[in-house]
Amino acid sequence: METIFSLGKVIFLFCFVAVLSSELEKQGLFKDDTISELLEDENGTVIDDTSVKFRLKTTHESHGCLLSLGQRDCLDECGFNATAKTFLVVHGWTISGLLPEWFEKLVFALQQRERDANVVTVDWLVLAHQHYPNAVNNTKAVGSTIAHFLDWLQVELNISLQNIHIIGYSLGAHVAGFAGNYVNGTIGRITGLDPAGPMFEGVEDHKRLSPDDANFVDVLHTYTREALGVSIGIQQPIGHIDIYPNGGDIQPGCGLTEMLTTISAGAFGEVVQCEHERSVFLFVDSLLHKDHESIAYECTDPGRFKKGICLSCRKNRCGKLGYNVKKRARRNSKMYLKTRADMPYAGYHYQMKMHVFSKVDMEDKDPSLFVKLSGSFDESENIAVQLPDSLGLNYTNSFLVFTDLDLGELREIKLTWEGTSWSWSSMWKTMRTLFYEDPNKNGVLEVRRIRVKAGETQKKYVFCAKEPSETHITPGSELTFVKCADGWEPKHRKRQYI
Ligand SMILES: *[C@@H]1O[C@H](CO)[C@@H](O)[C@H](O)[C@H]1NC(C)=O
Ligand SMILES: *[C@@H]1O[C@H](CO)[C@@H](O)[C@H](O)[C@H]1NC(C)=O
Ligand SMILES: *[C@@H]1O[C@H](CO)[C@@H](O)[C@H](O)[C@H]1NC(C)=O
Ligand SMILES: *[C@@H]1O[C@H](CO)[C@@H](O)[C@H](O)[C@H]1NC(C)=O
Ligand SMILES: *[C@@H]1O[C@H](CO)[C@@H](O)[C@H](O)[C@H]1NC(C)=O
Ligand SMILES: *[C@@H]1O[C@H](CO)[C@@H](O)[C@H](O)[C@H]1NC(C)=O
Repeated sequence: METIFSLGKVIFLFCFVAVLSSELEKQGLFKDDTISELLEDENGTVIDDTSVKFRLKTTHESHGCLLSLGQRDCLDECGFNATAKTFLVVHGWTISGLLPEWFEKLVFALQQRERDANVVTVDWLVLAHQHYPNAVNNTKAVGSTIAHFLDWLQVELNISLQNIHIIGYSLGAHVAGFAGNYVNGTIGRITGLDPAGPMFEGVEDHKRLSPDDANFVDVLHTYTREALGVSIGIQQPIGHIDIYPNGGDIQPGCGLTEMLTTISAGAFGEVVQCEHERSVFLFVDSLLHKDHESIAYECTDPGRFKKGICLSCRKNRCGKLGYNVKKRARRNSKMYLKTRADMPYAGYHYQMKMHVFSKVDMEDKDPSLFVKLSGSFDESENIAVQLPDSLGLNYTNSFLVFTDLDLGELREIKLTWEGTSWSWSSMWKTMRTLFYEDPNKNGVLEVRRIRVKAGETQKKYVFCAKEPSETHITPGSELTFVKCADGWEPKHRKRQYI
């Protein structure tokens, strides 16, 4: 399974990125000096009024009310509220030349959440509907135009820049960065939704979105898979907070796996768009579902996150994703979480630790283990235990388990060892010859307890084998664990056997 999947992934990336990178390479744009030349003009250029359009979206006028720089009467006629919050929504590079479908959804969600707010869309389609490098070249001028617009609002209406929140998607995130850089003063907040990677990865701070561009810069990274040295979304952290949902890698529900079975050209583009735009929908989700917000956890790298060891909320190490994200003291802190495939995206994270005893060394350290969690509300499916490394024998293995459902108070864990899976058939045979035909060895692996930490509730549990004598597990068999009797509370420090 895993091998087929990775191979498909490589083919997929190759096809898609090859188009983009050959385009970039032809123009010599992978060389850093070309990028710096492109973005050399330090002061930016203001583009004429017709290339960048600002529209105040009101609930009664679907197309929005055009705001023209320098025309005060427009502001009054459109009903611009000078003391309210102002959101500026900036789109990215476009192949179609049309405003993306998500645009209206984000506008609607902002209006739902902040009733008084001015929601202004920034339409720079004419300058974005170009060869990618040209569109990149235009980001600076568009940013500068937004800065002039904001400066005018400051003079004309005495608006506070602290009330400005620019939300930019893909190339639009860097446009927002330039706007923040050029404006007279400091913008309150910039949200970068999967900021574009090509030609921005690795460049200096002032040539892309960076923490200096606003009081608070938060970034969601949803498409950071790399091929041939480029990634559609920027990989490096570029804000005060950088959140990598699902590792910034494969977004659930975007159909990558389904697509690989029916490889078709059209589907490649759809997956790319789905994963890139997932950043937008995660943000929309946070606006619409404030009672069901996703929590992200600070972690130094995705590998540690996959082991479940970053689910701590101590010292402000966890926080909400999206609109309610909180500024943190440190810059560039990377945060991770897993999400559901559809909105609302929030799910539930658990760290599980189990000490696996083994009398003998196994050839294959990758047994297919599954856990099934039951709680007071619900029970999960069988969830594959994914260990970043191989299973450690006579060792405490830690791993992350994610559930879509709110299980409530955990009550029971079933651990199964899938013995019939085709990929493990060879191991199965080995096991049988090694152990089954030797009546003295009545088990393969032994697990006595499972320690659990729930990320969302920060609760800790210790589970013990339901039948104290049944702690051995063989391929095809199952073990049941329930909360330990007194004496095995999490605070219990005597832990040499778990
Ligand atoms: C940028 O602006 C400064 C003054 O604001 C000016 O001295 C400088 O020449 C400008 N640079 C360019 C490239 O226009
Ligand atoms: C303008 O916004 C402020 C602050 O959100 C609000 O108190 C006020 O009612 C708004 N004015 C109008 C006319 O909507
Ligand atoms: C970048 O845009 C400026 C105008 O903003 C233009 O003068 C320049 O030729 C463009 N550079 C490239 C390499 O397209
Ligand atoms: C502008 O707004 C600030 C507060 O944001 C206020 O202190 C100041 O008096 C206002 N100036 C004018 C001319 O209204
Ligand atoms: C920047 O804003 C301040 C007031 O906040 C004003 O005094 C100053 O003239 C502005 N500078 C420019 C270059 O517009
Ligand atoms: C695990 O420990 C037991 C007892 O100390 C020992 O007999 C066994 O060989 C060890 N297993 C491995 C795989 O090292």
